[in-house]
Amino acid sequence: MNVLHAARRRVAQSLYALLRRAAPAVYAQDGLMSVHSHTFMEDPAFIEAYARGVKAIGGVDSYRWHWRIHIGLWAANVASRLDGDFVECGVNRGFLSSAIMTHLDWNSLDRDFYLLDTFAGLDSRSLSDEESKDPTLRKNAENLKSGFYVKGADSVRANFAQWPRARIIEGAIPDTLVQVTAQRIAYLHLDMNCAPPEIAALSYFWERLEPGAPVLLDDYAYFGYLPQKLAVDKFARERGVAVCSLPTGQGLIMKPTLPAGR
Ligand SMILES: C[S@@+](CC[C@H](N)C(=O)[O-])C[C@H]1O[C@@H](n2cnc3c(N)ncnc32)[C@H](O)[C@@H]1O
Repeated sequence: MNVLHAARRRVAQSLYALLRRAAPAVYAQDGLMSVHSHTFMEDPAFIEAYARGVKAIGGVDSYRWHWRIHIGLWAANVASRLDGDFVECGVNRGFLSSAIMTHLDWNSLDRDFYLLDTFAGLDSRSLSDEESKDPTLRKNAENLKSGFYVKGADSVRANFAQWPRARIIEGAIPDTLVQVTAQRIAYLHLDMNCAPPEIAALSYFWERLEPGAPVLLDDYAYFGYLPQKLAVDKFARERGVAVCSLPTGQGLIMKPTLPAGR
């Protein structure tokens, strides 16, 4: 890990821990400090879903992604009122998708949840010019080395075995997109930490997204992922849609219910 980056991370984490000790009512983790209400963390349904996400990554919450998961569960709830299947591009061990499937009692729904990943880190063929120059490749190597990125799909299949309609698709996006046979999509989550496959997936699924369907972009505004934000902003401008930039670092697009210009 680049020394400056590692030092910055350590300083931030110490600051969060200090703040949480001094003022337990403050939310301080994962790049976000806030005095606003986060009582969703006390909701038993949230606690159960979050715990299933933690189980997916091995049982220890090294992420502290509570507010991000809260947003993901909210988007999934909105999507559950629409027709269509769910798609996640960038699954890793399945933290968010496991939380969602628990939260929505997935086996009680008549839907597929397509889960696409290389399960081997990013595909170096798909880096943008900007990303080839920035730390994307280095971060990917670190994530594989530290075990943050899963290597191989076996443990992931085992994690999702309780949900027969979890459709795991292994391989690099965009090559694997054709394997998603869903014609109507109610929920799309993009989390590949890399702009070209995210834009490829967004373009590929755009027409199949139901009006009102949420598209959640995990790294849209996150520190260190500017190429993704620029690429998504261009995509959104071309289609006349707005991206909501969230303080969690996520971005959110709602597929318009009316054609552009109305
Ligand atoms: C940050 S992780 C996803 C985290 C996950 N959403 C969760 O809830 O824990 C990013 C994932 O994107 C995957 N990935 C990156 N580039 C990819 C590509 N071109 N095709 C498929 N998967 C890719 C990596 O293998 C990695 O598992």
